Amino acid sequence: MGFGIIGGMDHLLPRPRLTETGAGSAEIAPGSVVSGPAPLADAVRLALPVLGLRPGDAATAAVRVAEDPGLGPEAYALTIAGDGVRITAADPAGAFYAGQTLRQLLPAEAFRSALVPGTSWTVPCGRVEDAPGFSWRGAHLDVARTFLPKREVLRMIDLMAAHKLNRLHLHLADDQGWRVESRAFPLLHEVGSHRPRTITSHRGEEPAFDDVPHGGHYTLADLTEIAAYARARAVTVVPEIDVPGHASAVLAAYPALAARPRERYEVLDRWGISPAILSPLPATVDFLTTVFAEISDALGDVPYFHIGGDECVLDDWAASAEISAYQASLGLESVGDLHAWFLRRLADALAGRGSRTVVWDEAFVSGGLRPDTIVMPWRGEHVGRRAAAAGHDVVATPVFPMYFDYAEAASPEEPAGLGDAITVADVAAFAPAPPAWLEEERARVVGVQFQLWSEHIPDGRALDYRAWPRGCAAAEIAWTGGPAAEDFLRRLDAHLARLDAFGVEYRPLSGPRPWQRGGAGWRRHRPGDVAVQDVMRHLHELSQSADSTRPSM
Ligand code: ACM
Repeated sequence: MGFGIIGGMDHLLPRPRLTETGAGSAEIAPGSVVSGPAPLADAVRLALPVLGLRPGDAATAAVRVAEDPGLGPEAYALTIAGDGVRITAADPAGAFYAGQTLRQLLPAEAFRSALVPGTSWTVPCGRVEDAPGFSWRGAHLDVARTFLPKREVLRMIDLMAAHKLNRLHLHLADDQGWRVESRAFPLLHEVGSHRPRTITSHRGEEPAFDDVPHGGHYTLADLTEIAAYARARAVTVVPEIDVPGHASAVLAAYPALAARPRERYEVLDRWGISPAILSPLPATVDFLTTVFAEISDALGDVPYFHIGGDECVLDDWAASAEISAYQASLGLESVGDLHAWFLRRLADALAGRGSRTVVWDEAFVSGGLRPDTIVMPWRGEHVGRRAAAAGHDVVATPVFPMYFDYAEAASPEEPAGLGDAITVADVAAFAPAPPAWLEEERARVVGVQFQLWSEHIPDGRALDYRAWPRGCAAAEIAWTGGPAAEDFLRRLDAHLARLDAFGVEYRPLSGPRPWQRGGAGWRRHRPGDVAVQDVMRHLHELSQSADSTRPSM
């Protein structure tokens, strides 16, 4: 049949640093042998699952893998000649990425889960030398607003791996749900993980609800499984427990931890910023360090732990005599200082366990961060630059163009998004480390990440639509370290055949398929309701103000 053959070295996505096309081709038949040191050869085999490659010795190998300690982290070299394939890498991640590049050089059928008879498993001869531009190439999944079952998370890891993305940021707790088992505090998952209904009306409309219960959580064993599955595919799971705001689900379970402990709290059935906030008193710090330890133990190696810090309404802190007395006893002048102090205590506890803390940019504006804290500037480039200038590592996460919950077009044919519009081209043109910054500021940008907030992502099919192909553009800029090259759209066109073979229900470049539209009801997009440029202007102003812990979006 020979369908799905893409051919040549010039359809790779993300674009490698160097490709040289040779003459002729080599065959990698299903069941072929891969030789080399186990951690590297195993990584290559895992990158090409459909072929069922076997370990063996070099004499019979179609793919020979060798360690080259001279290559950097995640880097690789791939040579394809008539007598077979050679791969060198310094680490399993590099070998895995060489395998992913090889997979893209095969017909698109390499992205299926079983062999399609008649496929010609040939790859063009040539050479690829490659290394990432950024060390943090992230995807963020909000599993709090919409719980995504474990199978969706594992599938996302497979898709990330195919795009050389390497950080899966799991937003595990928010006002609308707590998504992980706790043995120490079981009401977190028993009470905090479900709500009786979810809002379906849009901004400015009469509130309406679906009256359909929504819930779910990962067991600690699920987390262990997800982390191990990710690790084998060169992906690090970054858990986020967003505190001290976004706390309604925690407080529905344990109201005594609230700044207003006699209030009754519920897992929220609507979106927006809630005033519900954890108290900063020592009992809350003890509670959170216990929960962080449970999550960290389940995940295993946890180099990064995200503690949120965004969109906090501190009114209940200011109104509490007990909290005010505590603030005074610490010699802190404002609730903003107390916000900083609280996050710092959690970060110190995480550092004691070997984890670097990650925060949203409000925590940077509050001040007092540990120097090793990584900042995610979601409110724009300016606050990111300030964090970089202050010496923090920065992962670029600005609403524009990295919030993929915004619609791709200001059109009623789109399914509902938070606002509009963020296109594939917007993502492809983005420079995470802007050329106008000073060199030492640019050097602080360790990566870029797209966000999939899930108020408008009701299921896995909607997730596919939102994530791809904008995620392909994000992978391109993350791997190459800057805006996509001019041939990006041509390469993307070929790459979509791989996503088709994988079974991804991405958004076609020409717009949604009829059944991907929002229809006439609550899933219809309201074009122009929220323009992303207006959002960015508003967020920029907030990030400039001293009172940045109280945005009102
Ligand atoms: C955020 O969007 N509140 C990080």
